[in-house]
Amino acid sequence: MSPTFFALFAGAFSLLCFYLYLKHNYWKRNGIPTVKGCVPLLGHMLPMIRKRMNFAEFIRLAYEENKDHSMVGIYKGTRPVLIVRDPNLVKTVLQSNFSNFHENGRKVVPEADPLLAKHPLFSYGEAWSTGRKRLTYAFSNVRLKILFTVVSGVCKKFEDFLNRRLKTSNKYEVDLKSLFSRFTGEIVANAGLSIEGYCFEDDVRAGSFHEIAENTFEESLGTIIAFHFPSINRLLKLSLLPKSVDGFFRKVVCENLKVRRNDSTPRNDFLQLMIDMEKTGDVIDEENVSAHAVSLYLDGTETTSITLNFIGHDLAANPEIQEKLRKEARSTIEKHGGLTFDALKDMTYMTQVISESQRLHSAVGILQKMCTEEFELQGSDGLTYRIKPGIEVVISVFGLHGDPKYWLNPNVFDPERFNDEKKQTIEKITYLPFGEGPRICVGMRMALMQIKACLAIILSNYKLELSPRTQVPLMISPHNFLSEPTGGNWVYISKL
Ligand code: HEM
Repeated sequence: MSPTFFALFAGAFSLLCFYLYLKHNYWKRNGIPTVKGCVPLLGHMLPMIRKRMNFAEFIRLAYEENKDHSMVGIYKGTRPVLIVRDPNLVKTVLQSNFSNFHENGRKVVPEADPLLAKHPLFSYGEAWSTGRKRLTYAFSNVRLKILFTVVSGVCKKFEDFLNRRLKTSNKYEVDLKSLFSRFTGEIVANAGLSIEGYCFEDDVRAGSFHEIAENTFEESLGTIIAFHFPSINRLLKLSLLPKSVDGFFRKVVCENLKVRRNDSTPRNDFLQLMIDMEKTGDVIDEENVSAHAVSLYLDGTETTSITLNFIGHDLAANPEIQEKLRKEARSTIEKHGGLTFDALKDMTYMTQVISESQRLHSAVGILQKMCTEEFELQGSDGLTYRIKPGIEVVISVFGLHGDPKYWLNPNVFDPERFNDEKKQTIEKITYLPFGEGPRICVGMRMALMQIKACLAIILSNYKLELSPRTQVPLMISPHNFLSEPTGGNWVYISKL
C-alpha cells in the first residue's frame, strides 16, 4: 500500500469518525438523554436489521428503560428521532399542537409506491384533508348501517366454514390470525368492492384476497430501509407494497370498472362511492380508484384481524370472561330478535373486553409523527427541547398501555378497567389503540362493528380453548411491522 493511499485512507476515515461523532451526539448537545445501544452508522437500528425485534418492541423497551425521563433520543442511522413519554407531550404532538406535527413519520417514495403514496397515512395538507373528509363520510352512521348488511352476510359464510371444519371432528385446531384474515379479507372484498373474496375456500385459492394477504405485511431489509431510511430510499426507490399486491388491485379495479360500465345495477359499496368521487365528467381516474382499493384492503384487513386474533387469545385464556361475554351476546341477540346493528351497540361488556384486549396487545405499537414547524417541548421532569422541522417523534403505544404508573397490574387481562365507572379514572392520552387527535383512525367504528359481529357469532355458537402449541406469554414476532405473536396463536374451536 503506497504512503499516499494510506494517508488518504486515514484522512477519510478520521473525517467519517468525526462526522459520526457529531451526528451521534445530537441528543447530548441538546440536553436529551440517549437510549443505550447506539452503534456507529446504524444508530439504534441493529436489533431490527438482525431481526431480534420489531421497531415497536424496540421503542417499548426504550420507553420502559427510561422511566425517569419525559423524552429520550435515538438514531435511525445518523438521523435523530425523539421518543416522547409524558402523556402531556403526547397530547401536544397528537392533538393540541397538531399543526406543528401534522405529517406522519413514515414516508413512501411516490415513484416506487404510486398507489400507497395516495393513502391518507402518507398524505398531507390539502390531499390529506380531502381524503379524510371522504372517508369520514364513507364510515358515517348511515353508511355503517348499509355496510352492516354485508358484514352479516360474511358472518354467515364464516359460520358455514367453521361448521364444515367441525363436521369430521369435534375440535378444530387453528391459528386464529389466519382464520380472522379470512373473515376481514372477505369483508373488504364484499363490502368494499362487491366481489367474491373466496376467503372461505378450504384451500387458499390462487389470486384470491386470502392469498395476497399472506405476504403483504412482512418486515424485510427492503421494508426497513423504505420505512426508516427515507433519504436512502429516495435513491434506491424500494417499494413497500409488494408488486404482486399493486398489480392485483389494479387488475381487480380495472375488471370491476368494466363490469360496472356495462351494467346499470345501482351499487352502494365503498368502491362506487370512490368512483363517484374520482369522476371528472365521464372519465374515471383508475389510478386513484385503485389507490382507494389498496388503502381499504391495507387498513381493513390486517389491523382488524390482528385485533380479533388477540381478543380470541384472551378469551381462550380466560374461560370465565368468555362465559360472561357469551351470556351477554346470546341474551342481546335474543332481545333484538337476531344479530342486528343495534344489538351490537347494546353489547357493552363486549366493548369492555375489546378495549382491554387492545390495551394489553395493541395491533399498532407506535405512532410516528414528523415535526413540520419549530416548537418548544417542555417535559414534566424539567427537560426542554426546541424541536425543528424534519425531526421525527415516536410515541410508544405499547409503553403507555403497559405502564404501571397508569394501570394497576398492567399485565393482567381485566375488562372491568373499562366499565362505566372505572373508565372515567383512566388518565387522558394513555390509551391509544386507534391513535388520537385529527389523525385518529377514521375506520375505527367500521373496525369495531366487524369485530363485534365476528365475536357474537363465535361466542353464541362455539367455545375457544388454548392449544398447547401457543407460546404463552405471547411474544411479538420480529418479522412483521404490526403486532403478530411468534409461532402463531393456536386455539381449539368446538361447538357448544
Ligand atoms: C382494530 C382495527 C384497527 C386499528 C387498531 C387501527 C389503528 C389505527 C391507528 C393507530 C392509526 C394511526 C393514527 C395516527 O397515526 O395518529 C390508524 C389510521 C388510519 N386507519 Fe385505522 N385501525 C383499524 C382499522 C381500520 C379500518 C377498518 C379502516 C378502514 C377501512 C382504517 C383506516 C385508517 C385510515 C385511513 C387511517 C389514516 C387516518 C389519517 O391519517 O387521517 N383503520 N388506524
